[in-house]
Formats: sequence, C-alpha cells, structure tokens
Amino acid sequence: MTTVRQYSSNLPGADAHPYRSGAWRPQTKEHTTRDMKVSGEIPRDLNGVYLRNTENPLFESIGRYHPFDGDGMIHMMSFCDGEVEYRNRFVQTDGLRAEVDVGHALWAGLAEPPSKSLRDGSCARGRMKDASSTDIVVHAGVALSSFYQCGDLYRLDPHTLDGLGKETWGGEFPAAGVSAHTKVDERTGELLFFNYQTTAPFLHYGVVSAERQLVHYVPIDLPGARLPHDMAFTPNYSILNDCPLFWDPDLMGRGIYATRYYRDMPMRIGIIPRFGASQEIRWFECESTFVLHWINAWEEGDDVVLDGYFEDDPSPRVATDSTVEAKMFRYLDLHSMKSRPYRWRFNMRTGQVTEGYLSETITEFGMIDQTRAGLPYRYVYSVVPTKGMFTFDGLIKHDVRTGSEEVLMFGNGVVGSETVVARKPNATDEDDAWLITFTSDVPNDVSNCLVYDAKALSAGPVATVQLPERISSGTHACWAAARS
Ligand SMILES: [Fe+2]
Repeated sequence: MTTVRQYSSNLPGADAHPYRSGAWRPQTKEHTTRDMKVSGEIPRDLNGVYLRNTENPLFESIGRYHPFDGDGMIHMMSFCDGEVEYRNRFVQTDGLRAEVDVGHALWAGLAEPPSKSLRDGSCARGRMKDASSTDIVVHAGVALSSFYQCGDLYRLDPHTLDGLGKETWGGEFPAAGVSAHTKVDERTGELLFFNYQTTAPFLHYGVVSAERQLVHYVPIDLPGARLPHDMAFTPNYSILNDCPLFWDPDLMGRGIYATRYYRDMPMRIGIIPRFGASQEIRWFECESTFVLHWINAWEEGDDVVLDGYFEDDPSPRVATDSTVEAKMFRYLDLHSMKSRPYRWRFNMRTGQVTEGYLSETITEFGMIDQTRAGLPYRYVYSVVPTKGMFTFDGLIKHDVRTGSEEVLMFGNGVVGSETVVARKPNATDEDDAWLITFTSDVPNDVSNCLVYDAKALSAGPVATVQLPERISSGTHACWAAARS
C-alpha cells in the first residue's frame, strides 16, 4: 500500500466543472512510494527533488469554483543514484485544516464577492482562503509554498513533504503576507519577494538572507492597487512591475473585485537596487500589456535586459451571451491572450526602453537552468498551451540566441506541468541538463514522471515513472539539486 492518508471530499462524483474534471480531476489521497513501474533508465547523475504545486480542491465551493481556489497539494519525485521516490501531500494551511474540521468550504473564491465567505480570511483581496496552491521554491534547504494573492509561506521538508509550519523570518514576516513567485538567487542564497495590498502603500519589496532573516523591506509607491504576479532580478537589481490590469478601483470601493485591463495605460517596470531605498526605484514606461511570468533578467553594460511573455490581448473579449464560465476562464486561455516571448531592454543611464518579440509562438510558463537566473542565458523551456483550456500539451525548447525552437508534444489527451531543468554534473553547455515533468494522461487514466535529455528531446523520455494514481494537472514547479 502506498496510500498514507485518504481525505473525505464532498465534491460530486461526476463533477461537470471543467477545472475539477478531466485533467484537473482532484485527488483525495496522499501517497508515499518507491514501488513504481519504470520504463527506460533513471539517470544516475540526476540527484535532487522535483516539486510541483497543484490546485486540488477538496470541498464544493461557495458559489463558483475558479481553478486558482483549489487547496495546495505538493507532488514530489526524488532522484538518488538511479532510485526514485514519489510523495504527494496537501499543504496543511490554516484554511484547509479549518474546512476539514467542519467538512465543507468556509471561504468564497476568486469568482465570488468576499462577502460570501463564512469566515474572515486573509490575502490581498481579503476574506479569502490562503490556499498556498500557486508556487513552490526551495530556500535554505526548505520548500516554501505560496499563494498568488499574498499569504503565508508554508514550510515543508523537500524530501518528505512533512509540514514544518509557517515561515517567520525571525519574527519579521510581513503582515501583508508574501506573493507567489519569490525568487531565490542561488549565488547568494538570498530570497527576493514582493507583496501587494489594496491600501497604500500598495506594494512592498524585500530581501531575506541565506540565514532566513528579513534584511530589507521597503514600500514601493504606486498610483493605486495593482495585481503584480511575478518579479525578476539581476545580481544588482530587482525588477518589479505596474501592469495596467487591476481591480476596478470604483467597484472595489463597493466590495466588488472585478479585474479590468486599461489598454491606454503603459506597463511600467520598476528597477530597484537589491538593497535600494523606496526612492531609488526607477520606473520605465513600456508598451501596454500584462505580464504573468518573467523568464529571466541580466545586466549588459548600462542595460538591464528582461525577458518575459507579452500578452497582445490581456483581456480577451467574449460574446455578451457567453456562459459565465466562458467569461470567467478567458484569462486562462493563453491563445486568446496571445502570450509570446518578448524582450525589454532598459538603459539605466539614458532611461531608453527598447522592446520586441523574441518569438511569434504562443507560449508561457518558462523554466530555465536556475543557476543562470539573473545572468545571460540561452535556453528557456516553455509550455505549449492547450487552446481554450488552462493545460499544457507540450513543451518548447527556445534558443533565445538563435531564435530556433524545438517542440515536444506529450500526446493526445496528455498534459504536462512546468518542466524543470536539472543541470548535469560537470555540464559544459547550458543544455547539458535533464528535463523533468509530471503528466496527466486522461485517456489512459495514468500519470507519469518523465525525464528527458535536454539535448535530445526528439528521442523521447529517457525514463518514465508511473505514479500511483493519475494526478491533477498543475503548473508551478521547481528543482532542488542534491547538495554534493
Ligand atoms: Fe505564476
């Protein structure tokens, strides 16, 4: 037996919700196992853990379910000298524990007004459950799960997924919480983060030392409440953003949180020295867009260069007679938003901005070799989004130096996750690396962990490890190499 715990769920057995069925069918079981069918050979030089967060709802929603509401569940595959172990665990958030205690949902999600929640809650919008279901990183040897609406960072042992409580940073953890997409600078061991809130100061930026102490925390002046999702960094700078897609301020005053895209406003990028004071941030105006995720940033002479995904249409229109679901999920269709790799160049001396596409291919959720984060890099591995659904049909290896792209599709009805990059020992080329992803194969009702050689994607996976059951589709993931 691999099941270590089974949770009770009150979700319908034949759930018709598109993000609680098919590839997004949630799980109620937690497993620990080393007994898995392996096809191919697990590379003996692949040592470390692959961690992926997942929105995995347990209870029927109060009102409509949005796929970002699900409870955080971490899936982990550890690799050690050719052996593997799989575990999955719910993140034991305060919200999940409270709902398990009463056996039903206590908080309304993103698609409902906060007033529908049965209890006071937290997060930037207020009266929400901090589901800790968005992102995961490893800092100072401990996995930290996080939530896009700002909340606690839940600590887990990256090998056992045992809960280690909430991050405190020496008692200085910000009252406004921390957004998803904290950044770990592997050269210094520091963690960089931001949070946002609906009252001034609307944004904060901070740095945590390799010893888990909050060593820098400053307010960032913004004209109003914003919804930043990601940040980037170079060795000397941190890069924040003010995208013109945010809650309608007039409606917000009436307790309605409706996201609007203000297409006549520019996107602003704020570049601040890593330990800079609030007034040291420099803002650059760019073409209007919303950027969900950045790829990487680095310094080049007087320039700070930033790669990310530019959305041609951050707020795709839908027919007025569309279903509520079609309206709600239009922000999840990367094809409708026309999200494509893009490069911005900011001259720190002259203030000039140069920007343009890196590729015409619609993609997002890029992963790089994290040892290149903040430095010039060559390869990004992005996803091939499913048309009309928030799932990933394949991955694209994009060479940002030559512009060449190699596409790998997972197969009919098979969706993948963010594919992490595990640098090989003694690597000489940047793509001397293993790529790892979890897949959900709906037609065959199985999930696998796939390992590819980054230099030989077309050769197919070098190893396929079958998980104990089909897992839900998920997005953000990280790789933590074993310490040598
Ligand atoms: Fe994200």
